[in-house]
Amino acid sequence: MLAPPPTKGHTSIARLHRYWYVACRSSELSNRPLARTLLGVPLVLFRDGEGRAGALLDRCPHRNVPLSLGRVASTGHLECAYHGWQFDGSGQCRLVPGLQGGGEKERRCPSAALREQEGLVWVCPALGEEPDQPPFRIGLEALSGHSIVEHEVEARGTLHATLENALDVPHTAFLHRGLFRGKKPNEIRVRVKRTPTSVEAEYIGEPRPDGLVGKLLSPSGGIVEHWDRFFLPSVAQVEYKLGTESHFLVTALCTPVTDFLTRLTAVAAFRTLLPSFLLRPILQRVALRIFAQDAVMLKAQSDNVERFGGEQYMSTDLDFLGPQIWRLLRQAERGEPGENVVERELRFFA
Ligand code: FES
Ligand SMILES: [Fe+2]
Repeated sequence: MLAPPPTKGHTSIARLHRYWYVACRSSELSNRPLARTLLGVPLVLFRDGEGRAGALLDRCPHRNVPLSLGRVASTGHLECAYHGWQFDGSGQCRLVPGLQGGGEKERRCPSAALREQEGLVWVCPALGEEPDQPPFRIGLEALSGHSIVEHEVEARGTLHATLENALDVPHTAFLHRGLFRGKKPNEIRVRVKRTPTSVEAEYIGEPRPDGLVGKLLSPSGGIVEHWDRFFLPSVAQVEYKLGTESHFLVTALCTPVTDFLTRLTAVAAFRTLLPSFLLRPILQRVALRIFAQDAVMLKAQSDNVERFGGEQYMSTDLDFLGPQIWRLLRQAERGEPGENVVERELRFFA
């Protein structure tokens, strides 16, 4: 049989169920049911009559019609479109139309824990369970002088590949040439630190990137402070500071939809000398362009990994964070304790 050369059959997929993931933005959730899949678990989100958000398994326990086809009834409960069973936000059945004698009380639909925080709806896909830690906090209240832009995109890539891409510096000079970096490479030092739940790359002595984004950050150049961070289970964060004049904090809250589909809710907070009304539309266009280029690569990577039946990665010292992120995901999936490590410091050109 004709076949590609054999690979190890490994794919960097970690399934961390008992964690919080962004399901949607608070503003997207009204009394209209919203279908969202988290880690392969189909859920329906809705607001009840009092505006409280709830998340239930998107399968009516009666005859398994998706509850997301239903509506929020005048009682404030989620009503199935088929026979009209109604459920509250905890999944308790509150009405079986026509049934006498309170038989609805013994019926319920599995529900998922939900929190609203910083304008985002966080859900735990382990039905009926609650994570030990609260959801990740961006700290938006401390960034009151910043402009905030939010955007949601989907990438056809594993959670790991998507996180690595969001924090991978070396590809920016190549795939995003001119937009971010790429004219003349500069020597930069990087220090990588790992905690049991996060890993951070700190770049030292980095000149302001010379692409369009860098020029917006600071027209006059200078040395930037730059950190790339990953927080378990699925947050990628990039921070740039240039003196007191410019600050960018871009947080990509990733949600694994399925093994090879990842949704990103990007929250960008920025402050520069340029007025926000000028900067905002330019940044938005550039960010979309950058993301479109990344999305093409993530899809090509996933398709090829699939075609070859697994990954066969060859890393170098320049792959600062990808292997570290994989180690943290794997440890968390196995329930192993992590450790505090200053991994190393190295020099590279970007
Ligand atoms: S399938 Fe939902 S009420 Fe019958
Ligand atoms: Fe990129």
